[in-house]
Amino acid sequence: MKESLQTRIPLNQGTKMPIFGLGTFLVKEGDETRKAVLWALEAGYRMIDTAASYRNEGSVGRAIRESGILREEIFVTTKIWNNDIRKGQAKDALSRSLDRLKMDYVDLYLVHWPVPNKYVSIWEAMENLHDEGLTKAIGVSNYHIHHLQDLLKVATIVPAVNQVECHPYLQQNDLRIFCAENTIAFESWGPLMQGAFLKVPEILELANKYHRTPAQITLRWARQKDIILIPKSVKKDRIISNADIFSFEITPEDMKRLDALDCGKRMGPDPDSFNF
Ligand SMILES: NC(=O)c1ccc[n+]([C@@H]2O[C@H](COP(=O)([O-])OP(=O)(O)OC[C@H]3O[C@@H](n4cnc5c(N)ncnc54)[C@H](OP(=O)(O)O)[C@@H]3O)[C@@H](O)[C@H]2O)c1
Repeated sequence: MKESLQTRIPLNQGTKMPIFGLGTFLVKEGDETRKAVLWALEAGYRMIDTAASYRNEGSVGRAIRESGILREEIFVTTKIWNNDIRKGQAKDALSRSLDRLKMDYVDLYLVHWPVPNKYVSIWEAMENLHDEGLTKAIGVSNYHIHHLQDLLKVATIVPAVNQVECHPYLQQNDLRIFCAENTIAFESWGPLMQGAFLKVPEILELANKYHRTPAQITLRWARQKDIILIPKSVKKDRIISNADIFSFEITPEDMKRLDALDCGKRMGPDPDSFNF
């Protein structure tokens, strides 16, 4: 069946996740977040990605309530920040997030970064949160294959999702295959290369050819690889047009042109050497 903005895929923990949502990194608490989330929900988005460290969960929750859309129709992801991972305080951290969101559960709770010496041990606390129903699904973020291998040795619950940086310059093919083989859904952060997509000549050429925006080409390319997407924008027209990627297709030949851009270039930190 043809995909749309409302299409969901089943996760390995029994719940279903939309294939497309709104990112909120660097979106300011208050009106900026509130408006972006309201515009997205109005445009048909049903997934919002936030994190304790973004300090905007309060406005995300407020916008969701104001939208009048039933809570259960919206998929909310948040993440435990590194200081709480270091302390092993998953329950306290999620309780604080839920207080700010004014919700009694989230749909997906992620370990934000693979904190050295903690990225495995935090998982038991995450599993408890899942068992208690405080989150419908638990997953990880920024885990390389070796982090996942260590985790899978002890996990009772296999992570539902791995959210990592992924875009034409950093395609993460080995990690994507590893996740697929282990029933872990693959979600991209920075799908628009944090804005740098506008400097990639091949993307601009294809935008001309398909009469689409460069953002639509970049996002459609990822979607044709089954990647879950959460592009961020605070501009209403971009929020609307970024999601309009379900009515055209990139040919296999042009997909290969974009595939050829893979050069391992990161916009963010490497999960093996981050220092926060
Ligand atoms: N798990 C993690 O560690 C992690 C890390 C980073 C991000 N994330 C999540 O992933 C989401 C997306 O990643 P990201 O925010 O880093 O980067 P992104 O979505 O790749 O890029 C966002 C940038 O692109 C611009 N943009 C959006 N649509 C555009 C368009 N149509 N034309 C031109 N520019 C456009 C935005 O500016 P405007 O807002 O001005 O439109 C913003 O500067 C985040 O918001 C966050 O929810 C997770």
